[in-house]
Amino acid sequence: MPANKFAASNDWWKHAVVYEVYPRSYGDSNNDGTGDLNGITQHLDHLAKLGVDAIWITPCFPSPQVDFGYDVSDYRNIDPQYGTLADFDGLVAEAKKRNIKVILDFVVNHTSDKHRWFLESEQSKTNPYRDYYIWRDGKGPGQPPNNWTSTFGGPSWTYSDTTSQWYYHFFYPQQPDLNWRNPKVEQEMFDVTRFWYRRGVYGFRLDAVDTLFEDPNLTDNPPVPGTDAYGMPMQEHIHDHSPAEVHAELRNLRKVANEFPGRVLIGETWTDTPEQLAEYYGPNNDELQMPMYFNFTKVKTLDANEFRQKVAAIEANPVHGWPVYVLSNHDIRRYVDRYGNGENKDQIAKLMSALYLTLRGSAIMYYGEEIGMENNDPKRVEDVKDVIGKKGWPKEIGRDGERTPMQWNTSVNAGFNKGATPWLPVDANYPTHNIATESQDPNSVLNWYRELIRLRRSNPAFYGGSYFSLTDTDPNIMAYLRKSPTAATVVILNFSAQPQTIALDSSKIGTSTGTVLLSTDRQLKRINLRKLRLAPYGVVIASVHGKATHTAAGVTH
Ligand code: GLC
Repeated sequence: MPANKFAASNDWWKHAVVYEVYPRSYGDSNNDGTGDLNGITQHLDHLAKLGVDAIWITPCFPSPQVDFGYDVSDYRNIDPQYGTLADFDGLVAEAKKRNIKVILDFVVNHTSDKHRWFLESEQSKTNPYRDYYIWRDGKGPGQPPNNWTSTFGGPSWTYSDTTSQWYYHFFYPQQPDLNWRNPKVEQEMFDVTRFWYRRGVYGFRLDAVDTLFEDPNLTDNPPVPGTDAYGMPMQEHIHDHSPAEVHAELRNLRKVANEFPGRVLIGETWTDTPEQLAEYYGPNNDELQMPMYFNFTKVKTLDANEFRQKVAAIEANPVHGWPVYVLSNHDIRRYVDRYGNGENKDQIAKLMSALYLTLRGSAIMYYGEEIGMENNDPKRVEDVKDVIGKKGWPKEIGRDGERTPMQWNTSVNAGFNKGATPWLPVDANYPTHNIATESQDPNSVLNWYRELIRLRRSNPAFYGGSYFSLTDTDPNIMAYLRKSPTAATVVILNFSAQPQTIALDSSKIGTSTGTVLLSTDRQLKRINLRKLRLAPYGVVIASVHGKATHTAAGVTH
């Protein structure tokens, strides 16, 4: 596919499709059962053909792998099981040839307990690295400093005999929280980003940003009834977060990113409201360019009203931050498994991709989405690799299911490697759902994604147009107009398992007919907007040339 016309601009990310790669599971070039960087490099042609602008690689740095890389023991190197710095440079160079930018994952909240800083820190109260982490006295013998519980089970504090103090960890005990109030930590971490920017990295996805700071007084969290999946008493996680300080620090990280043109900061920003999300852009658009909007992932059923309302809330975003849509990732069940009661997965893949790839904003997709990969969940606790799944079974089964090997072809292990047992089992649907087989089928999910991304790239209504909803309350259909000064398209999506007929208000569109650009109905060429029949989960994307009469509030860029 030709380069995105924005590829050279500093705002390239605004029109981008970012593709998340989980390196353990993408391609295993040395056939040891675990994916590696060369395995990603080998598959760059697939990514170029798909039309992605950037890949975000989840942590590939040296790590004891307690949390599969989210426990970093050295921020400036590559874990030997994934390769070397030279392999990384090779990946960046090969990606560049294909107009693909590389984004890394920056685990900002914590390090591994095997990081040199922590090994020093736990030695003595006077060690120069002591204040790199959060050490406190307990409330009394055997009692942690407060009642905070870890999101990964158990108390958030672990006792160290060496100095008779406790250290804080929002996640596993093997992931001690960094003390960002220490200017030395700040500078070390800023320099880590510079190290990678200089190596040609185009930005970072910032891991768990909202947990960067806690209440300095360590006030107890208010208890709420019940226990969590790990048997701990529930509590409101109020005091283990300190949003104001997080925002100030993000502005600092952004200043460092601004030293390098075109660099982008993406955030793992779990928020409840669009207002909270808006804050992550910064008061002067000086924090994250791309805070992820996760609320699509919280919608439990295919309800057009819910998705429409969520888009409306984002479109009304008071700071006009650039939206960033996400449907699945390495922590969330694949979306084809979340909807449809296990049926119609390919249709749902086409429907949901048509939604988030035609909205105003950037899109972050998860590897395997483009072939309709499903969750392959462990059936027995003995098979679980993800520690939260071992600890929380069966209430919390962990995240293995959404992390299984990428499916390339019909050969052994779906072409992930040459036959070594993969670290997680390949899904049983690989004979039909893989890149090679789907490439041959014009109606496959893969060819749908390719066409959709090509359309998104080539049609000015998608890369620059405003958004205007054409349905208000229909529980089954979402329809909207995307319009730029030179192009107008309608997108019509049937969220239901039944055929639907819809009459759109052509006065809002300026015409009553459209020319189909892409549809799940391959025969459809022209449509009558006043009477349009959609198949179950049907999608129609059509160009409409009339003069629209509405004044959409969306921003045109
Ligand atoms: C983020 C990551 C997740 C990891 C956690 C702790 O939520 O996405 O995979 O376990 O942070 O680093």
